[in-house]
Amino acid sequence: MKGLILSGGKGTRLYPLTYTRAKQLIPVANEPVLFRVIRAIRDAGIDEIGIVIGDTGPEVRETVGDGSRWGVKITYIPQDRPSGLAHAVKISRDFLGDDRFVMFLGDNVIQGGINTLIEKFADSEWNSQIVLKKVANPQQFGVAELNADGSIKQLVEKPKEPKSDLALVGIYMFDHNIYEAIDNIQPSWRNELEITDAIQWLAMHEDMRVHPYVHEGWWIDTGKPIDMLDANDAVLDEMTPGIADDVEIDEASTVGRRVKIESGAKIINSIIRGPTAIGENCVIENAYIGPYTSVYHNCKVSNCELEHSIILEGSEVSDVPVRVMDSMIGRNATVSHTTQKPTAIKMNLGDHSKLWLP
Ligand code: G1P
Repeated sequence: MKGLILSGGKGTRLYPLTYTRAKQLIPVANEPVLFRVIRAIRDAGIDEIGIVIGDTGPEVRETVGDGSRWGVKITYIPQDRPSGLAHAVKISRDFLGDDRFVMFLGDNVIQGGINTLIEKFADSEWNSQIVLKKVANPQQFGVAELNADGSIKQLVEKPKEPKSDLALVGIYMFDHNIYEAIDNIQPSWRNELEITDAIQWLAMHEDMRVHPYVHEGWWIDTGKPIDMLDANDAVLDEMTPGIADDVEIDEASTVGRRVKIESGAKIINSIIRGPTAIGENCVIENAYIGPYTSVYHNCKVSNCELEHSIILEGSEVSDVPVRVMDSMIGRNATVSHTTQKPTAIKMNLGDHSKLWLP
């Protein structure tokens, strides 16, 4: 089997973080979501992976490389415009050949791996396997309606009036029949070739079998900032804690049990309460870092309190008089305090930034 990861898209709902960065490269619990996806596919025994890239392609290529870090071989497949998930499959045909494959959306975070799913599909006669998850807001996803015997009755992309609460998770398994299905569908209202429509075509074909698997664990499509924070919570909950050998923690500091601190970090007169991840070479001084916080590499946090937040690399948060919570801070950002007159709030915010004052 082969793996296909989709890592295009503009990530507009995550602006401003995604102006300058592919959304799939934003870290949760200090690991870019895309890396987690690559690991899940590799752990399921697949070592040939194609990544479909768009505008952010150069950055994805540079960050991910040839895959040798994970022991896999990565092939990049450029998509010139975002024309839908089924279009991405279509342009990947040369890479995929006639092999069975798993397609994984590079911004989906799922509990557990995909080993069992892949094993079952590899051993089956099914032409496709889809993953479904009960959600509260099905109209935002592809939705599956099942028959009483568990087989698929209908699949609809983002229905206004969903017939069920089972959303299509961004993990799909196919054999070569998917290409014929894609050739038989038309672009949707958003002018995209929808993979949901292609699977619906397969499911309705009398000779084809699409197996729906209902996932019981958590699943998060990290489209919006709140989803990133949710995914960060969920992954931190399952993280293996550990403190790298060269981390310096002074005697005045308290570091909780469920904390991961990476190489070169310094913790001075601070309280770190887990689950929390602190990246390489961070300096945390006179600070409280509360549960569900991820501070990525090379950040400085001093004289302030931080909780339930994601801070990307190279940023500095210092001297903030109130606790910073539920926040996402991009790369190389500065959040600070000034005593300079006039007393006022001073900002230097990027386009589409959001600031909430207490
Ligand atoms: C896509 C699919 C949708 C699926 C979702 C999962 O939606 O079209 O069927 O439920 O991924 O993340 P999109 O992210 O393109 O809105």
